[in-house]
Amino acid sequence: MSADIIDGKAYAAGLRGKVAAIVPGFRAAAGRAPGLAVVLVGEDPASQVYVRSKHKATVEAGMESFEHRLPDTATQDELLALVRRLNADDTVDGILVQLPLPGHLDENEVISTIDPDKDVDGFHVVNAGRLAVGQHGYVPCTPLGCLMLLKDRLGDLSGLNAVVIGRSNIVGKPMAQLLLAESCTVTIAHSRTKDLADVVRRADIVVAAVGRPEMVKGDWIKPGATVIDVGINRVPGAEPGKTKLVGDVAYAEAAGVAGAITPVPGGVGPMTIAVLLRNTLVAAHRRAG
Ligand code: GUN
Repeated sequence: MSADIIDGKAYAAGLRGKVAAIVPGFRAAAGRAPGLAVVLVGEDPASQVYVRSKHKATVEAGMESFEHRLPDTATQDELLALVRRLNADDTVDGILVQLPLPGHLDENEVISTIDPDKDVDGFHVVNAGRLAVGQHGYVPCTPLGCLMLLKDRLGDLSGLNAVVIGRSNIVGKPMAQLLLAESCTVTIAHSRTKDLADVVRRADIVVAAVGRPEMVKGDWIKPGATVIDVGINRVPGAEPGKTKLVGDVAYAEAAGVAGAITPVPGGVGPMTIAVLLRNTLVAAHRRAG
């Protein structure tokens, strides 16, 4: 048996297309495009790549992209002042401060300073709280993208056993909340979980978000289960000096057992930016009221 491949790249392209198709109507009604401000502090190479991709996708969707780059010598006060300026700017619907920040800066204080109604990353505690109690807010892009892929594949999720491996604020916890809201029976597993293989074996849905290359083995997977792999891990490749990307799931093994699985790359990764655009469009409509 070989699992169906969940094509996140294609789904994300479709979502970006849907967003782009709605933008002209917003522009005509509001007299401006939806605007996303992205703040990058310092020179982290991976963050620079992410920010460039976000900018390109934002412009391609017909939205306004405001990029703000601060040197890695920027102070907390300078960064907070920029966030406050963006909060007050009516042409900015969404604000994203690229993480991680340089070590001398306080991420929690920065995120708490973003207006929750412009927090298209869904990282502000107000949005985490809204998700927990089932109110409208902003949901972090990666877990929301995973949920979209799951619903596209499975339809109604109610009553299914779901295991989320990883308890980060950005992926694991919001993912568990989203699955709970879909009436799944949710288990959150993590590095201290005992008998993880047995926990995973009971799951109809496995979301792996631990950041450990190929940790989830094929014989942990229940036959026919749906496997969503959030991991993006760079490991040594076949040729000396070359690297390759692998997920948190041993893909070849798991694909022999699962009903459906996301590949790495090309699975969850492309969904994050597509959902960011979707969240920005939602913010623009809500703010335009
Ligand atoms: N760094 C890596 N992924 C993300 C993301 O989704 N949002 C922000 N703000 N920073 C990130």
